[in-house]
Amino acid sequence: MQQPLPDSDELLQAVFQAQPGLLLVLSEDGTVLDYRAGQILFSPSPAELLRNRIQDSLPVEAHIKFDDAFSRVQHTGKDSVFDFSLFIKQQTHWYEAQLTPLGQGLIAAFLRDITLRKENELAMRRQMDRLAALRTIDMAITSSLDLNLTLTMLINQVKTQLNVDAASILLVEPQTQLLKYAAGSGFHTDVFMHTSLRMGEGYAGRAALTRQTVRIANLSNHQTDFLRSPHFAQEGFTDYFAVPLAVKGRILGVLEIFHRAPLSPNADWLDFMNMLSGQAAIAIESAIIFNNYERANSALILAYDATIEGWSRALELRDRETQGHTQRVTEMTVHLASAFGLTEQQIIHIRRGAILHDIGKMAIPDSILLKAGPLDAAEWEIMRQHTSIAVKLLRPIQYLAPALEIPQYHHEKWDGTGYPFRLKGEHIPLAARLFAVVDVYDALTSDRTYRKAWPRAQALEYIRTEAGRHFDPKVVEIFLKMLEGR
Ligand code: C2E
Ligand code: SIN
Ligand code: SIN
Ligand code: FE
Ligand code: FE
Repeated sequence: MQQPLPDSDELLQAVFQAQPGLLLVLSEDGTVLDYRAGQILFSPSPAELLRNRIQDSLPVEAHIKFDDAFSRVQHTGKDSVFDFSLFIKQQTHWYEAQLTPLGQGLIAAFLRDITLRKENELAMRRQMDRLAALRTIDMAITSSLDLNLTLTMLINQVKTQLNVDAASILLVEPQTQLLKYAAGSGFHTDVFMHTSLRMGEGYAGRAALTRQTVRIANLSNHQTDFLRSPHFAQEGFTDYFAVPLAVKGRILGVLEIFHRAPLSPNADWLDFMNMLSGQAAIAIESAIIFNNYERANSALILAYDATIEGWSRALELRDRETQGHTQRVTEMTVHLASAFGLTEQQIIHIRRGAILHDIGKMAIPDSILLKAGPLDAAEWEIMRQHTSIAVKLLRPIQYLAPALEIPQYHHEKWDGTGYPFRLKGEHIPLAARLFAVVDVYDALTSDRTYRKAWPRAQALEYIRTEAGRHFDPKVVEIFLKMLEGR
């Protein structure tokens, strides 16, 4: 025997009440003629809606959306679906409305509460924004190691993503352990730029000392601690956070957040604040590491320079006659180069090139290098290799690459009769043209194993006559002027 079915209307009612929704039967102009209400929070209540135009019972945005939907349904004769929100019991509730034409000028409206779905959507969108923000910061950390730039960008992210009026970052100064202002935005006065706090002093100092976030709501009621200066009141802040910035337990600074109205932070907001401060701490640490690296790098360069000076001294130790030659020609060449208006950067390389100019003589046997008389053809063949030997020796050293011109070309001659390439005129790099004059002048005025030093006047006369032959005439002119001035 079959159970008798309940009355169909009763059944519909029962099914409907289990559904989270509201079914309205509307006339063409939106007047509510009838309804079935399931589990739904809606305001005004369905009973209040009855016999009124639904649009007129709702706030302006929902009103407009219903009007639009009614005209779409009437024009197309098809369903229309849209979302709208209502502010009920201090909260935003989202609804999806589906309008269906029933014929005879009647329309069914089915409303569902989609607040949870909307909140998820919004939360996801916020998450995306925040991920994008974190990614921006991340890129800044890896691409720019300029700490000020990174901090400024972090501050801007804090302000926009956390929706606060002002933020600043204080950094721990390593020598003094004082918290000092490093970056900030959103302040009306410059009071904050002078911040300097000891560990434990003030709210920021307390956050740094305890490694705990400090929050002060109703800031204006707190007369003592925070009032860094009488001007502080002018800022009108009411809410405040001090977030310690630490990496692996080492405190690097404090992020301060200020707002001129009460904040109502939720878990999301706090999570994001913590993420941002984590990123800030990493950015600061990277910048500190980079600065240390730069310092180590310049120490490395000093070590290199000491090394090449060591090499050239080793060369001079073999050939007692040339002692002091390297230092003299280096100093004179640097002078000549600056008289020529070369930049400091170019001169750094010229200086190294001058120090290393004859480093290739390291490979020349004593029997040739220290020979008391003139060289025979075979000996000359070997002696002339000292320029290319220098290049072979120095080429693998990256930082000496721009310094190679002098070792390589210092025996080329302006008229194209030099070695090893017989370069002519301005095909010879300027550094080498400058150096050649200085080198010959110093060689002539010094004792050599193969001859005695020439008097200064004779050497100067020789240089003058070689202008346009061995030497660049313009270089000779400036060189002679430079020596006259001494
Ligand atoms: P260095 O003695 O330092 O000479 C450097 C350059 O100064 C020479 O390059 C040359 O252009 C010029 N110079 C030096 N002494 C004289 C000189 O008495 N008269 C003239 N007119 N110019 C002079 P260079 O000629 O390519 O020689 C390169 C290097 O070869 C010299 O450096 C030196 O170490 C060696 N060398 C050159 N000639 C002799 C020589 O007769 N005997 C020996 N033992 N070594 C020589
Ligand atoms: C030197 O004796 O150190 C300079 C000679 C040269 O330039 O080859
Ligand atoms: C070159 O012509 O190779 C170099 C020119 C210069 O350095 O003055
Ligand atoms: Fe040489
Ligand atoms: Fe020399």
